[in-house]
Amino acid sequence: MKGIVLAGGTGSRLYPLTRALSKQLLPVYDKPMIYYPLSVLMLGGIKDILVISSPDHLEQFRRLLGDGSRLGLNIDYAAQQRPGGIAEAFLIGADFIGQDQVSLVLGDNIFHGMGFSHLLRSHTRDVDGCVLFGYAVTDPERYGVGEVDASGKLLSVEEKPTAPRSNLAITGLYLYDNDVIEVARGIRSSARGELEITDVNRAYLAEGRARLVDLGRGFTWLDAGTHDSLMHAGQYVQVLEKRQGVRIACLEEIAFRMGLIDADDCYLRGVELAGSGYGEYLMSIAAEAAVRSPGCAYS
Ligand code: DAU
Repeated sequence: MKGIVLAGGTGSRLYPLTRALSKQLLPVYDKPMIYYPLSVLMLGGIKDILVISSPDHLEQFRRLLGDGSRLGLNIDYAAQQRPGGIAEAFLIGADFIGQDQVSLVLGDNIFHGMGFSHLLRSHTRDVDGCVLFGYAVTDPERYGVGEVDASGKLLSVEEKPTAPRSNLAITGLYLYDNDVIEVARGIRSSARGELEITDVNRAYLAEGRARLVDLGRGFTWLDAGTHDSLMHAGQYVQVLEKRQGVRIACLEEIAFRMGLIDADDCYLRGVELAGSGYGEYLMSIAAEAAVRSPGCAYS
């Protein structure tokens, strides 16, 4: 399965923060926002990743993430000339997706919870149709909203409805089979405005091929698209990291624990960031591994 992080848009709800900077590079406590959605794809076992952003900001993402090899990934980049809708990602990324299935994650979404990696991998292994992830919220009218039957089959989907039929928001993580490219092309040929992700999901729904997985109440899903939600997300990460001494969405740690890089690489990634708590954390993880298996270059 291929992965796409959609990290464009104008970020106008965050002005003036985003007048000169990409929203998805703003800090969420100790790391850039894009680390969080990128970690989701990694936890899903996805190694081939396309980052889509506006032409003005692509270079900054490239400087941050490079070709991905330092994380054991292959990262490509593509420009979205103007915000033409979330589903435009499948047209921009059509060649990148090729014949594969694809997971799309929005660059301002933060997912965190026990067993997430396992849950993701149970779904990324093989997708027939589409899989959406729902999350109960108090303000569903701000989101895509789904209705689901007891078997997880999607019954209805609406974008920011004034009278939501359920409290299940559709989160910014979407898994599709390869048909999604043709579905998006079909919508493009008939749509006049933005290419809405909800229209894509509605097309799968019409064929009875859409599922919605409820992430459940023990899980955390946040978006960081407003001043308040950005602050709340940062505070959430800060509280958990301080309390537990572990880091959320630490890409190098995930790469190491998933066997994409070895302990020596992990240590080196820490050395490159020396002087920060983040860098020290990476070195300490690698050092712990060295105690368990002596012989690492730095042990
Ligand atoms: O966060 C989940 C929600 O995301 C879903 O529940 C909604 O169904 C979905 O439409 C979307 O709603 P938003 O109101 O958050 O959409 P927004 O236009 O803000 O775009 C979400 C992210 O995608 C944002 O970080 C910018 C990026 N984006 C958006 C568009 C429209 C792009 O990179 N390019 C685009 O053309």
